[in-house]
Amino acid sequence: MGEIEETLLTEEQIRSKVCELAARITEDYADRAPLLLVGILKGAFIFLADLAREIGIPIEFDFMALSSYGSSTKTSGVVRIMKDLDVEIKGKHVLIVEDIVDTGLTLSYLQRNLAARGAASVEICALLNKRGRDKVDIPVKYEGFSIPNVFVVGYGLDHAERYRNLPYIAVLEK
Ligand code: IMP
Ligand code: MG
Repeated sequence: MGEIEETLLTEEQIRSKVCELAARITEDYADRAPLLLVGILKGAFIFLADLAREIGIPIEFDFMALSSYGSSTKTSGVVRIMKDLDVEIKGKHVLIVEDIVDTGLTLSYLQRNLAARGAASVEICALLNKRGRDKVDIPVKYEGFSIPNVFVVGYGLDHAERYRNLPYIAVLEK
């Protein structure tokens, strides 16, 4: 595995979806600002940067790093917090920003974890959601694209740390 097979989502498609999501978030959180965006490192960093610049209300940022994958493409189901939040989230409206939902294990764990810290609300925004996977049932309130069950890279997503800087999203060949 390792070569780009085909483009799945172009820069233009991503850009217009990001604007659409940001408009919904701006409207939904208009009277609950500031909104705390929690970006999940590393995959969400590019999506988060683009999304945040299209949101029209005051926002704050924090980041978490979670590990369930290693450098393999199969999930282990074990979620570890490698980097925790810097700020207290008690009473805050939190929007988790993630690159992709595969099994949903990572986000299901995280949503419960953040809710338990006393956040006023915890919602999820994910650019990609894989279809046809056995999933933990998690509500992704803001979903960019539903994609087939293929391994994708680019726009923040990696394979063994490569390809994150591609401006589009591509399928890796098997
Ligand atoms: P989940 O816990 O199974 O939902 O796994 C989600 C995490 O696995 C994402 O945050 C990604 O880091 C990683 N991941 C899942 N599918 C892909 C993919 O197609 N390309 C790159 N990373 C992926
Ligand atoms: Mg990730």
